[in-house]
Amino acid sequence: MKKKKATSAGFTWTGAISFFILIAVIMQMAILVYDYIRERTDNVTWIAVLILIEIIIFATFCTVFDWIRRKITVERPTQKIVDATEKIAEGDFSTRLDIAHEYGKYNQYDLIMENLNKMAIELQKNEVLKTDFISNVSHEIKTPLAVIQNYSTLLQDETLDSETRKNYSKTLISASKRITDLITNILKLNKLENQEIQEKHEAFNVTEALAENVVEFETMIEKKNLELNCDFDEVTIFSSKSLLEIVWNNLISNAIKFTPDGGKIDITLKRKDKNVEIKVSDTGCGMTSETGAKIFEKFYQGDTSHSTQGNGLGLALVKKVIDILGGEIAVQSEVNKGSTFTILLKDVVYED
Ligand SMILES: Nc1ncnc2c1ncn2[C@@H]1O[C@H](COP(=O)(O)OP(=O)(O)OP(=O)(O)O)[C@@H](O)[C@H]1O
Ligand SMILES: [Mg+2]
Repeated sequence: MKKKKATSAGFTWTGAISFFILIAVIMQMAILVYDYIRERTDNVTWIAVLILIEIIIFATFCTVFDWIRRKITVERPTQKIVDATEKIAEGDFSTRLDIAHEYGKYNQYDLIMENLNKMAIELQKNEVLKTDFISNVSHEIKTPLAVIQNYSTLLQDETLDSETRKNYSKTLISASKRITDLITNILKLNKLENQEIQEKHEAFNVTEALAENVVEFETMIEKKNLELNCDFDEVTIFSSKSLLEIVWNNLISNAIKFTPDGGKIDITLKRKDKNVEIKVSDTGCGMTSETGAKIFEKFYQGDTSHSTQGNGLGLALVKKVIDILGGEIAVQSEVNKGSTFTILLKDVVYED
């Protein structure tokens, strides 16, 4: 980061020159007073006493002048900073300091104040994020927990027939799976954000990796009677296989989830020079441009009819991974027509 310029808080040319003139005037006055006394008396004791009084008066004057100068230039800004840091330390992140000079004429105190203001703004932002995060997580956990409580109470009824029992336990399993998925995604996202996941880069056949992933969704695709078309170029890339798995999983599961029975999903993988482009298209419910602008935010769910399936963390994870890998992600969508997610992995093609 470029260092900002600031003048020294303890030294200014105007301050130094004023101080110099003051000392020079006082010395001159001392000499004049001394001459004045010598002209009027030869009494050495008197001269000594008067000189002593003169020194005391001038020294007091200088001390008071210096004290006022320090009060204005050092103590006042330091006290402002101390007060602000105390407030921030107590958790009041709305604290801001008024900077004395205009931008470009900053001294070191102004710079400290500006930095403190920036720190307070960042802390305030983090506080908001933390509160939002906690309320989102609590909300997401509360719903399946309520389901678990209700259905386990219902299961206590011994007169239930085996079919109903089976249905209730299915509901219980899916509610607990929601909580597990939520926690898994939060932990993954947290690890990615704190860069704890070592993105182990390796050369691997991305065509095979993607195809293997698609196969895992076969049962879900068949269940919804979806038409699936895959068109993959044969490419080896140098990237992180495990991170990309997060991307495939979320995009394909979204395409399946948001496409009604009998719809179509197209997945393509194209080599473009040194880059690789992957597209996942569906003929599902699509989304408005307002929704499209928010889908990468944590916990955002645009389509409320599917909100019980998932927590709105999938695309936040995908975006984070793509950012880490230095790629691009874009979405094109039309309501009730479908959506296309395009991923561009840059400079990844691996050739021996
Ligand atoms: N293929 C798609 N078609 C239509 N809308 C989509 C599609 N993919 C994502 N969305 C919209 O983006 C929102 C966020 O997607 P995201 O994957 O982050 O969450 P989710 O699928 O609802 O939950 P989770 O991924 O945590 O299971 C979705 O709720 C939906 O509104
Ligand atoms: Mg999802």
